[in-house]
Amino acid sequence: MSIHEISHVAVVGAGQMGRQIAMLSALGGLNTMLMDTNPSVLVTARDELEDRMNHWVIKEKLTPIARVKALARLTATTSLESAVAQADVVIEAVVEKLALKRKIFAQLDSLAPRTAILATNSSTIASSQLGSQTTRPEKVLNMHFFFPPLQMTCVEIVRGPKTSDETVEMALALCQRIGQTGILVQKEIPGFVANRILGAIEREALALYEAGIADFKDIDLICRQALHHPIGPFEIMDLSGNDVTYLAMQQIYEETGDPYWKPPATLVRKLEEGLLGRKTGTGWYLYSEDTAPR
Ligand SMILES: NC(=O)c1ccc[n+]([C@@H]2O[C@H](COP(=O)([O-])OP(=O)(O)OC[C@H]3O[C@@H](n4cnc5c(N)ncnc54)[C@H](O)[C@@H]3O)[C@@H](O)[C@H]2O)c1
Repeated sequence: MSIHEISHVAVVGAGQMGRQIAMLSALGGLNTMLMDTNPSVLVTARDELEDRMNHWVIKEKLTPIARVKALARLTATTSLESAVAQADVVIEAVVEKLALKRKIFAQLDSLAPRTAILATNSSTIASSQLGSQTTRPEKVLNMHFFFPPLQMTCVEIVRGPKTSDETVEMALALCQRIGQTGILVQKEIPGFVANRILGAIEREALALYEAGIADFKDIDLICRQALHHPIGPFEIMDLSGNDVTYLAMQQIYEETGDPYWKPPATLVRKLEEGLLGRKTGTGWYLYSEDTAPR
């Protein structure tokens, strides 16, 4: 199969990631089926995407005609069978539960065309754990998009030990087609590359803060001003959610057994106190209604 033969994409799971991945695919000219078991999620997803595309037209990022065409290419369904029946590529973006994803990959193997590539958007589950549920492990890989996909421009393409070169090339070409830079990660590793580096920065920042070396606001300031990071590690934790940061570290800790990745005590305390970041109004910083940190 060549990239020119890819015309149908199915995205399974229409949450905060899946809906935007589906929109990228439709914007890239591909017939896109967005599937979720929860019909109300599909309605909310459609409304949100229409609003976003309206906004893009107002900002002149998209012409009105391109908006209409892209939205017309995007179809929603609660049926996995009809979502993937014609798919050349399936991108799974359901909740981060291994047992559920394994079950879905087994279903995809029997429902999707024999030639279809089966990708997972999982942040932590290596595709080989899902490919083993299929008869086509050479066509299975991670396509790890970043949140929010309609603003971010990079996808980690993580190959498993059985992923074929052809599958990797197709995934990289697909990224290009939908306006993303696909970047190859040659081997499966917990956290892949981006979250591994981010986790290391966050972990170090937390250790410095806990040791009383500097206040967390000053650590953010140093990262922004001395290292030219656009935002400091504590601001990032608040943005993605302290619960998300905790789970990412805990996952690597459990997989590697390396105490370096054990979530630090101050991060655990934020969770216990329900101070998750911007989404709860308070995390490391307090947020006013316009979400500016105080
Ligand atoms: N949120 C992030 O920042 C982020 C970033 C990169 C990757 N990811 C990965 O993307 C995936 C989804 O994350 P999310 O944040 O969009 O989650 P989410 O909770 O917003 O959405 C998950 C969706 O899956 C649906 N779902 C549950 N069971 C299903 C089934 N059997 N079939 C179809 N749909 C089903 C739910 O109804 C829900 O709409 C996860 O694997 C996560 O690791 C998340």
